[in-house]
Amino acid sequence: MSQYDLLIIGAGPGGYVAAIRAAQLGLKVACVEKEKALGGTCLRVGCIPSKALLDSSELYEKATGSMKDRGIIAKSVELDLSKMLSHKDRVVTGLTMGVESLFKKNKVTRLIGTARFTNPNTVVVEHDGKSEEVTAKNFLIATGSVPSSLPGIEPDGVNVVTSTEALAFTEVPKKLVVIGAGYIGLEMSTVWRRLGSEVVVLEFLDRILPGMDTEIAAEAKKLFEKQGLVFNLGCKVTGTKMAGKQVEVMIEGKDSIKADKVLMSVGRKPATDQLGLDAAGVTLGQRNFITVNAHYQTNVPNIYAIGDVIGGAMLAHKAEEEGIACVEHIVTGYGHVNYNAIPAVVYTSPEIATVGKTEDQLKTEGVPYKTGYFPFMANGRAKAMGTTEGKIKFLAHAETDRVLGVHIIGPHAGDLIAEVVLAIEFSASSEDIARTCHAHPTLAEALKEAAMAVEKRAIHF
Ligand code: NAI
Repeated sequence: MSQYDLLIIGAGPGGYVAAIRAAQLGLKVACVEKEKALGGTCLRVGCIPSKALLDSSELYEKATGSMKDRGIIAKSVELDLSKMLSHKDRVVTGLTMGVESLFKKNKVTRLIGTARFTNPNTVVVEHDGKSEEVTAKNFLIATGSVPSSLPGIEPDGVNVVTSTEALAFTEVPKKLVVIGAGYIGLEMSTVWRRLGSEVVVLEFLDRILPGMDTEIAAEAKKLFEKQGLVFNLGCKVTGTKMAGKQVEVMIEGKDSIKADKVLMSVGRKPATDQLGLDAAGVTLGQRNFITVNAHYQTNVPNIYAIGDVIGGAMLAHKAEEEGIACVEHIVTGYGHVNYNAIPAVVYTSPEIATVGKTEDQLKTEGVPYKTGYFPFMANGRAKAMGTTEGKIKFLAHAETDRVLGVHIIGPHAGDLIAEVVLAIEFSASSEDIARTCHAHPTLAEALKEAAMAVEKRAIHF
């Protein structure tokens, strides 16, 4: 039987980062992972492979169309989907093996198998019919989440799929129906539309991207429609059935719709099933998320949990921050995450990036605010790049001028938002950004101008 200071269950961005940090802090750490490759959903079947496909499909779309306007005429462009998928797989393998070598470098013990608590101080790790008992002073659950499904629909992985299979279609579906206009729905719709699918997105609500700033989400919908995506809002999907080789999707009160493939992207749920939480005495809260206190401690004092499994934004970087804060608190007594400074990015084209409060939230909370806008149309670099769609919306406190939230739809929005995250982390004002020199010509100047627009002194718009 092995005894560790800390046993981490799950090697996604939350778990593996926590393991490395704990080892740096001098703990004897092991990390249990049931999959062969480390890195969790993010590296294996989420963020990373989807970004590889988003990037490749963007190149393809440029080569087959938009480069012409810039005087680059590529004749007979062909799609080799299997090569595109191999590139994605190589990226994933490289990164997951990278985590393995980081574990070796930091002396984190990697255990292969499924971990199940038998009591609050012991887990059994099962793999290939064999099992091993492991004890530890503390445990950290970082098991993440799995795709949710809808009543009456069970993805079969072939015709009705989750994001995992939609990252590996071996042929471009002629018609793809996507259920849910959230992060996954929009990113995967973008990939397959660019590669030639006719894509219809069915969304339950009367808007896309719930939770994002309403105005920015509405602009995103317009731009995506211009690109060819079809949105059917207010659609409650009630079931699917095979109709010959196609899938028929039933919608309450509306005509059904047929497609070659159907992607279910209606959210994700915490992965707690196999953990034996009853044996450990850990209680679950709403919608089966693990309840934790401010230090990520469950109701059992030596068992902690972080990442998707505790709820909140289901984002890799949020899990990483929690993992570090949790182990630092265990070792040093300090550790904190500023949830107001967690950015979110949708990697469509244009990208959408957001941090801090939305305008809707400020209205609900009765916080007085000022707004500044700047369109990429008025930014020299965006013009030079031919990517002038979108804008920046800046929200600052009406009295203190403190940055409250920034919402960007436009080129490289995901990179631009980092400056705002730092500003929020340092409690900066819009004036701080407005008076900071930004290199010319850069997209970042648009952020400075949006900050200047808060006091109606933008120069170029
Ligand atoms: P989501 O929560 O972003 O969106 C789900 C959508 O499905 C919502 O718009 C919801 O209204 C809709 N929906 C729910 N029930 C429905 C029904 N019966 N019929 C039609 N529509 C319905 O969830 P998604 O896209 O599955 O992503 C899961 C998680 O993964 C998210 O929490 C997200 O944070 C994370 N993620 C993050 C990415 C990123 O950071 N770029 C990329 C992909 C996923």
